[in-house]
Amino acid sequence: PCTRPHTLRVNQETHIIEVEPDTPLLYVLRNDLELNGPKFGCGLGECGACTVLVDGVAARSCVVPVSLVENRQITTLEGLTHNGQANDVQQAFIDCQAAQCGYCLNGMVMTVQALLDRNPQATEAQIRDELRYNLCRCGTHVEIMQAALRVAK
Ligand code: FES
Repeated sequence: PCTRPHTLRVNQETHIIEVEPDTPLLYVLRNDLELNGPKFGCGLGECGACTVLVDGVAARSCVVPVSLVENRQITTLEGLTHNGQANDVQQAFIDCQAAQCGYCLNGMVMTVQALLDRNPQATEAQIRDELRYNLCRCGTHVEIMQAALRVAK
């Protein structure tokens, strides 16, 4: 195995992490940086549980090699909070009780955040379209949509 240092900017902090270049970003976030917001679901880029923002765009961190995101702005679920307070999207998900088991929630929140950052007035159809590849096995889709619509203006 051939490791090398990688410069990662995560939630406004810079970290130098020594790993193999093809290490999935998700592994570094969870194992090295102890950021457990992003979840390991499928590990194949199909469920969305591991979603983070890379330069503001939703990305599936289980299939993103760390070498690809060096010096990019990475934001995890933890990075959305301010002084320990949930942001508007996170608070809407709490208020609408949009979790059952909660495993998918990181991906739902991060995907909605990315959409509303570029389109604060997203319509219900646009939100549905954006979330269509985020899987929830409990079936809390109604509450998830309510939460997202509460924040969309
Ligand atoms: Fe990354 Fe499922 S764990 S998409």
